[in-house]
Amino acid sequence: MSAANASPLVTSADRPGGIRVLTIDNPPANAISLALAAAIIAAVEAADTDPAVRAVVITGAGGKFSFGADIKDFANEPPPGSKSVQDVMAAVERSGKTYVAAIDGDALGGGLELALACDYRIGGAKTNVGFPEIKLGIFPGAGGTQRLPRLIGAADALTLMLKGDTIPAADAQRRGILDEIATGGVVDAAAARAERALADAPKRRLSERHAETAGFDAAAAHKTVPAEAKGGLAAHRLIDAVAGSVELDFADGLALERRLFDELVRSAPAAALQHVFFAERQLGKIPKLPPSDALAVEAAAVIGAGTMGTGIALAFAAAGIPVVLIEPFAEQITRSKALVASTFAGQVKRGTLSTEQAARYAAAITWDAELRAVGDADLVIEAVFESMDVKKDVFGKLGRICKPQAILASNTSTLDIDEMAAASGRPEAFIGLHFFAPANIMKLLEIVRGAKTSAQTLTTAVKLGKTLRKFAVVSANAFGFIGNRMFFDYVREALYLLEDGVAPERVDRVAKGFGFAMGPFATIDLSGIDVFWHIREGRPDALGPKRTNIIDRLYEAKRFGQKTGAGFYKYDGVNKREALPDPALIALAAEEAAKAGIAPRDVTDTEILERLTYALVNAGAELLEKEIALRPGDEDIAFIYGYGFPRYRGGPMWYADEIGVGTIAARITEFGWPLSPLLARIAAGAGTLAGYQAELTHA
Ligand code: 3HC
Ligand code: NAI
Repeated sequence: MSAANASPLVTSADRPGGIRVLTIDNPPANAISLALAAAIIAAVEAADTDPAVRAVVITGAGGKFSFGADIKDFANEPPPGSKSVQDVMAAVERSGKTYVAAIDGDALGGGLELALACDYRIGGAKTNVGFPEIKLGIFPGAGGTQRLPRLIGAADALTLMLKGDTIPAADAQRRGILDEIATGGVVDAAAARAERALADAPKRRLSERHAETAGFDAAAAHKTVPAEAKGGLAAHRLIDAVAGSVELDFADGLALERRLFDELVRSAPAAALQHVFFAERQLGKIPKLPPSDALAVEAAAVIGAGTMGTGIALAFAAAGIPVVLIEPFAEQITRSKALVASTFAGQVKRGTLSTEQAARYAAAITWDAELRAVGDADLVIEAVFESMDVKKDVFGKLGRICKPQAILASNTSTLDIDEMAAASGRPEAFIGLHFFAPANIMKLLEIVRGAKTSAQTLTTAVKLGKTLRKFAVVSANAFGFIGNRMFFDYVREALYLLEDGVAPERVDRVAKGFGFAMGPFATIDLSGIDVFWHIREGRPDALGPKRTNIIDRLYEAKRFGQKTGAGFYKYDGVNKREALPDPALIALAAEEAAKAGIAPRDVTDTEILERLTYALVNAGAELLEKEIALRPGDEDIAFIYGYGFPRYRGGPMWYADEIGVGTIAARITEFGWPLSPLLARIAAGAGTLAGYQAELTHA
């Protein structure tokens, strides 16, 4: 084997028999950036003009083929004369040589498109392939919508691209995406395949095939995806592009794909979803955190086997960490065991878990009545009643019982982490781990660092978040942390709207129309009006200055929400889950508003939306200024994964930039709210929240 030309992004090595191996080397993702595109094209053209080269094997360095086009490139217009990922496919397509993709590791998006432009595809045991583009608000735009239907049929191809799932090698081979799964080295197997192909069928371009149409119905497919304005824009365009693969010849299909892709790539939902992608990856990067090795969490304990404790234990079991649930009340243990059993049984029934997995997970959870059963757990999470006295008592004992290096954590929603940390006697090993209900399902985890939390404790918590497959947002210790603090202001505006004479169902309709999974009143009814009553008891200004006694009246009447059959709605129908407008609630609200001297007002749907969303923005800005949240993107992630904010709108802070901080600041001033000084400054400088860089003072 001899090294031919060498580029930093693509290395080239020749094997006997005229087989050239091109290795893409662009860590960490082998993403096809503009620079890599140019390097691949140069390597392909060099192979083309070299008579000694008979076949080319393309592979990726670092155990991965390529995770696709470089997402960072989408935000800007490419410089004139630059080469695109589409140009890469065109170069391979034009070439007269035989191409074999040696897919070691994953081929995703443009990476899979490159493999599809080749004549043959060889996978390895760890290979996954897929088109995740739809999750970024785009679709495969470098020939994928035209080649995959020609390989596996339009119906199957559309399903794969609409879901955006990646599939393992065996599945890919079964569907015909991979020709072979190498048992040894993937490049060796690809070179051997090239030899055979040269002797037999050197060229096998998908562009020359027709797409199988059985089961493909574009009109029906359009009806299965969300409306364009509700996050479905890319899905509709994808269906159109795949329809092109069956209706048009290859060149025209490609042209259609390109036109639709270019329209999508800089659309507002695509920009928002790409922001979410990078914000998710920023979460674990904590500015000024001294490097530290995470402690291994191999055994955990959870104190309190109620709703949250049991959910947290389920999350640990699913991540393969054995966990003991400590609970003094026998009836709570019985209830917790029943919840664990029914959760796993439900997953087996739905086919998301095998019977063996369910048995393994169930075996990872044990119960005990005594605190000393924490044994030598590496991490102990407290999820007892929301009472500072009860929690301090528990932490005082844990501080004495747990092994010295064990980390202690609280799942509190509203209490002071530092006060509990002090009670534990080991504040440097103390942290808040705020899960959301149901803790085994909800993707958000807030990591709350106390004043004395050590770098190692924080690093361990960040790593744990990944192990538990959560999006872990780091917050400083402050009332409501990030998510609830913003949510409480949103609830404040929902209540004020009710006091202004707007019916809950109208507020909720506007919120859902914007894309929220649920409206604020339906959400409060689900969490329980009693919960909000208690929060306001503990902190009278939690939901903003109190104007009426609506919450108190509902609490006194035991109208707690869904669980009592009435709250801001009446509940009826099957399982009493159907929310129905309730004239009695409207009358109660009107009576309370009148008592408080609040006259009913005409409020437009636009104002409803502005008040709900701008309340989030103003609160989010305040948290940034106080350095409770590290970045606007962290707040976006918290609201998307914890509170059902539409992902395709990028989160409240991203949305604020889309509207314009100046516009929002002006409206907030008109509403008479105290404007966050940070928003005022950004508005005055015509800046953006995305451009805001906190000068973080704490380490
Ligand atoms: N472009 C740019 N950067 C990428 C990238 C891409 N396509 N894929 C991954 N990266 C970066 C990440 O930002 C991260 O960078 P960082 O270390 O600086 O934060 C690094 O690679 C490692 O990625 P992850 O932290 O996400 O690694 P994981 O192992 O957790 O996840 C993955 C791996 C599931 C493959 C995940 O990286 C992923 O989903 N990547 C995106 C895949 C994708 O959507 N591909 C399609 C791109 S669009 C396209 O190809 C358009 C074409 O059709 C025209
Ligand atoms: P819960 O009432 O369902 O469960 C609390 C459990 O702790 C009960 O089983 C109780 O018997 C047990 N317990 C009480 N004192 C104990 C002690 N000294 N030792 C061991 N066990 C004890 O309450 P829930 O909803 O699970 O909440 C627990 C904590 O999680 C609270 O701090 C709450 O604020 C927080 N939280 C709750 C969320 C929710 O949506 N329910 C969301 C996020 C956090």
